[in-house]
Amino acid sequence: MFSLTVNGERREVEAAPDTPLLWVLRDTLGITSVKYTCGVGECGMCTVLMNGNAQRSCVITLEEAAGSTITTIEGLPEEHPIKQAWIEQQVPQCGYCQPGIMLQAVDFLTRVPKPTESQIDQAMDDVLCRCGSHARMKVAIKQAADTLNGKQGG
Ligand code: FES
Ligand code: FES
Repeated sequence: MFSLTVNGERREVEAAPDTPLLWVLRDTLGITSVKYTCGVGECGMCTVLMNGNAQRSCVITLEEAAGSTITTIEGLPEEHPIKQAWIEQQVPQCGYCQPGIMLQAVDFLTRVPKPTESQIDQAMDDVLCRCGSHARMKVAIKQAADTLNGKQGG
């Protein structure tokens, strides 16, 4: 039995220690916003925050995640500047990639609160969006950064 805190709630999980966190979240806990695509840590669709850091949950085992605090998109407050900017810039198209990408953006802005455009480009280049929302997500990240830094507008 392993325990972890998911979106503020302590959860007990009975599964093999090497079960990927992705499957624990989706299959055991029913959090299907965490998406499966490549399964090998390449695309970013399965990204969650683990103790505040973006992690690709397909390559983290339950044993590694035990005792940590996990945040999925449901655990990000509605008023968070990333969520607000995503809505205002109408970033999603099909939406499949967006939870993981938004959480990667949250982690990025925590580490780099005042990013340049090229830092944003670099930070988001390793996430896959097959609908081509990259241009809008970069505008939204700039807007969220400005909001977090107390500037008006985008
Ligand atoms: S499904 Fe985890 S990085 Fe692609
Ligand atoms: S919005 Fe469709 S895959 Fe990104």
